[in-house]
Amino acid sequence: MFRSKIIGTGSYAPAKIMTNHDLEEIISTSDHWITERTGIRERRIASENEATSDLAAIAAERALKYAGLDHMELDLIVVATSTPDMVFPSTACIVQDKIGARRAAAFDISAACSGFIYALAVGDQYIRSGTFSSVLVIGAEVMSRIIDWTDRGTCILFGDGAGAVVLKRGRVDSGILSTHLHSDGALWDLIYVPGGGSRIPPSIDVLERKLNCIKMKGSETFKIAVRTLVDAAWEALKANNLRPSDLDLLIPHQANMRIIKAVVEKLEIRMDKVVMNLDRFGNTSAASIPMALDEAVREGRIREGNFILMEGFGGGLTWGSAMVKW
Ligand code: UT7
Repeated sequence: MFRSKIIGTGSYAPAKIMTNHDLEEIISTSDHWITERTGIRERRIASENEATSDLAAIAAERALKYAGLDHMELDLIVVATSTPDMVFPSTACIVQDKIGARRAAAFDISAACSGFIYALAVGDQYIRSGTFSSVLVIGAEVMSRIIDWTDRGTCILFGDGAGAVVLKRGRVDSGILSTHLHSDGALWDLIYVPGGGSRIPPSIDVLERKLNCIKMKGSETFKIAVRTLVDAAWEALKANNLRPSDLDLLIPHQANMRIIKAVVEKLEIRMDKVVMNLDRFGNTSAASIPMALDEAVREGRIREGNFILMEGFGGGLTWGSAMVKW
């Protein structure tokens, strides 16, 4: 039996910062409201010539450098994104070309904000089965391209960024201990982008009605997010005979500070064990967990033998968790 070990992490956020005060200039909102209701103070916005694969490739290079792994050793690249460069080819193929990982198979995963957990689970399965020994898992988004900048219920939340991890086949006593994935397609219309696909193809009408942008039922999503994150945490804890107090670090999807605080309260986890970076990056969808993980690694918050729980939820509806012994 094999286990996947995370041997390198990397992340990248575009240089341009959009603060809550900048948003006050374009919609009826306030820094006070956004900070109180979400915890977000600023987010990054990709430049006109930056696409998702550009962000992903930089995060990937940083993760590979940290891991000390050559590009040619990679067997597989999985990119989780809801904002691919184009309909096809996959963003993973474009990243493969950019980083010169010519041996690797490459494909994308679409699971909205849960994308990274889904991609991590897929990469982990390929290693556990013995099929591959080196896998690059990336979560990358340019959410700013699918935001309706006149909708104050959504445009304040999202940001752009990318995070990556390198998985390597390793010993069985540490690494990714378990992953847990769930979906409820009946709740597809809580958060979605209606236009631009095969149901409502691109047209002038789609652009005029902003059907190419995110539509969200905010408060309903909020309640379900808390429930699914609590459930996903318990599932991962029980599967590994752990209690919440055994956790060294919780890395939740960075959607809303109030969601995270509600989850942490229910699980009775100390706030200093929770990684939060949404104040600076907002909700970067599939990129949020690997960006937060990379920050924790580089700040020295993670030591060998630590139990790390990562968990996410998002459009689909999808949710899931991954328990790691570092
Ligand atoms: O990755 C997964 C994706 N999504 C999420 O996780 C989102 C989950 N939901 C949320 O984070 C929250 O529901 C929001 C931050 C989106 C909204 O916060 P809320 O506390 O649920 O506010 P609300 O939608 O219930 O609206 C309360 C009030 C409304 O005014 P009235 O009707 O009470 O007069 C809104 O119109 O706040 C108003 N409002 C705003 N005011 C200032 C909504 N957005 C804004 C805004 N600035 N940006």
